[in-house]
Amino acid sequence: MTEHRVAKPFLKWAGGKTQLINDIAKALPQRLDEEKFTYIEPFVGSGAVLFWMLNNFPNLERAIINDINEDLINTYKTIATKPQELIAILDILQEEFHSLEEKTEEKKEYYYSKRALYNKRTEEQSGQSALFIFLNKTCFNGLYRVNRKNEYNVPMGSYKRPTICDKENIWAVNEALQRVEILCGDFENTLYWANENTLFYFDPPYKPLNETSSFNAYAKEVFNDEEQVRLRDFCNELDALQSTWILSNSDVKGKNANDNFFDELYAEFNIQRVEAKRSINANPKKRGLLKELLITNHNKVYAMFY
Ligand SMILES: C[S@@+](CC[C@H](N)C(=O)[O-])C[C@H]1O[C@@H](n2cnc3c(N)ncnc32)[C@H](O)[C@@H]1O
Repeated sequence: MTEHRVAKPFLKWAGGKTQLINDIAKALPQRLDEEKFTYIEPFVGSGAVLFWMLNNFPNLERAIINDINEDLINTYKTIATKPQELIAILDILQEEFHSLEEKTEEKKEYYYSKRALYNKRTEEQSGQSALFIFLNKTCFNGLYRVNRKNEYNVPMGSYKRPTICDKENIWAVNEALQRVEILCGDFENTLYWANENTLFYFDPPYKPLNETSSFNAYAKEVFNDEEQVRLRDFCNELDALQSTWILSNSDVKGKNANDNFFDELYAEFNIQRVEAKRSINANPKKRGLLKELLITNHNKVYAMFY
């Protein structure tokens, strides 16, 4: 295939940023149109903003992505280097799963056997990545949740014939990733690349609005208030290096008017409150409009999007 394909996220991921892209676009610095730059996303997740940036900014010379979730990052690496192998395995998984459409019990057995195989982590790289995508497309609400032993424990979802093997998009992502350096580890590892021509977008695990909204469960590590402070310190460091950054987080003030956690933490920077729909929430009643924070260390407006 030779036509240009537009890459999009190949996973469902809690906190996926597709809904927030217009607001992020408005918060970008103007010079992205004029100068070459490096885009860095230290908490990449499913990469909604990454792919949007890669598709829309010819001046984006290269991108650096990072996440602490090893299985996720391995899947990015597989798509970048072995798309054909991955597609071949996904094709089989899709065919087998679809053939069980009417057989509820067998379908369940199939899902749980693949989940057990995934948790053994004995498959080679493309097999393991295919299982990761399979589980993401067939599990309950596209969640990623592991226990302390790093065992994936999300039950089966109720999709009839989910697309498990989206060949077109895997090839498009493969092409897009040729400009991307893929790292696995803590967000601070990205400091090495920071300079005045870098734009960082941070989408950390959000501070939970209450005890039960536990969107912190992306990886076995927890992201608590101390981590939020460590991230702010990192943003200070980047600011001193004249890197530009944008960060999103939950608006805890919306829930409790006296909660100034982020207003105090980022008092020196620009804080905007924007409306955003959360796409993954187990309770449909909670899928309504919530405010989120967009914080930047610059205040120029990217005019093209008005
Ligand atoms: C809110 S999600 C990112 C959502 C993403 N922007 C999207 O569009 O799907 C946060 C990500 O941060 C990762 N993470 C958690 N702690 C981390 C750390 N200390 N360093 C780097 N990544 C971390 C999680 O694995 C998760 O993928």
